Amino acid sequence: MKAYRAALLRFDDHGQAVYDEDGLLLVGPGPDGMPLIRAAGAWSALADRYPGVAVEHLPGRILAPGFIDLHVHFPQTDVIGSPAEGLLPWLENYTFPHEARFADPAYAAGVAKVFLDELLRHGVTTPLTFATSHPASVHALMAEAKGRGMRLIAGKVLQDRHSPDGVRDETEQSLVDSEALIRQWHGHGRLGYAVTPRFAPSCSDAQLRGAGELAAKYPDVWIQSHVAENKDEIAWARQLFPASRSYLSVYGDFGLMRERAIYAHCIHFDDDDRRLMRSTGAAAAVSPTSNLFLGSGFFDYEGAQRIGFRHGLASDVGGGTSFSPFHTMLAAYYVGREGQTKPGVSLSPQNLWWQHTAGAAQALGLEGTIGNLQPGCEADFVVLNPHATPLLSRKVTHARDLDELLFSLIVLGDDRAVERVHLAGSPA
Ligand code: GUN
Ligand code: ZN
Repeated sequence: MKAYRAALLRFDDHGQAVYDEDGLLLVGPGPDGMPLIRAAGAWSALADRYPGVAVEHLPGRILAPGFIDLHVHFPQTDVIGSPAEGLLPWLENYTFPHEARFADPAYAAGVAKVFLDELLRHGVTTPLTFATSHPASVHALMAEAKGRGMRLIAGKVLQDRHSPDGVRDETEQSLVDSEALIRQWHGHGRLGYAVTPRFAPSCSDAQLRGAGELAAKYPDVWIQSHVAENKDEIAWARQLFPASRSYLSVYGDFGLMRERAIYAHCIHFDDDDRRLMRSTGAAAAVSPTSNLFLGSGFFDYEGAQRIGFRHGLASDVGGGTSFSPFHTMLAAYYVGREGQTKPGVSLSPQNLWWQHTAGAAQALGLEGTIGNLQPGCEADFVVLNPHATPLLSRKVTHARDLDELLFSLIVLGDDRAVERVHLAGSPA
């Protein structure tokens, strides 16, 4: 057992932030030996209950849940900042040629290290990430995450058409490979597998059907894909799947809408799409830096809140421009505010933070396991130093309440504010 004394941020069951200015976080082994949060609350209320437990005092620091990135591409770590007219030319000119390099296991292993280093440096303790179409890319990433004790979910990309040589896979083999990867990696320690059709235009009917069959056969495996990101992409999907009501419905029609299905972007939706998200329990990975960078559009937070479907935040690197959850939360605030093409809303800092932690965990069906510091959660947490930079320090010193404190961090924070990261209790 070990205790930490510092300010403490966590969330209640309604997504409301709970903040103890002088808090105690107790970490100790759970029933199967995995380090869990055993107690969390005010120092004054808890300290006497754990005599003899070593306490690390971290004055001026904030303990907060490790961030969850709901949608990211590990093989696009080096694609960040590649400008293009829009999504489809960006894929063709930068992304597919780069992803082709991941057929080489040694190259994939090298980037896997860099990718996890970057995530951890920025305070992200769990990503839901695409690999490439090469099974070797999944093996490289899973092995690297396993070595670090990190909870990570990843999958081999399925793309058997409209894709160049080097990344295009073969229908039957892609499904055989996916199932073998599920058997090898899903539930192996802290690792999880996601069935990963790249997006409907890159997958034949047979591949999408096979993906749906895998998702039905392995119900606790995740599903991840892209939808309704870009107007040209949507027109293409409608042309390829004329029988489906909408682009999103294509996934429903192939059995790919259910709990633990995470769809990136979800920008150009109508209310029927939103209701399909709600009724199936699927979740949106809102990726604001990517959507702003690629000129894709603005996620409609008003629509998501009005109909009520699960959503959380994602970097979508390399379409996205930063691994930093602070940058993503700020971009989500801008996107919410945009009120010229859709109703604008002002997201609270507590809600933005929740979308990147406990809300993202809920989207993954992992509430109570990660994304929070309530008793029973796995001990993935960050130690934030709000005095890491001069202006941030000045701002937080004058913060009058929790909203002002969190908003200061969202606007002025970055990796410099992430002093330390713990994975399953241990410093990463
Ligand atoms: N749609 C299909 N593939 C991709 C991708 O790699 N990134 C993004 N942002 N959208 C996609
Ligand atoms: Zn993406």
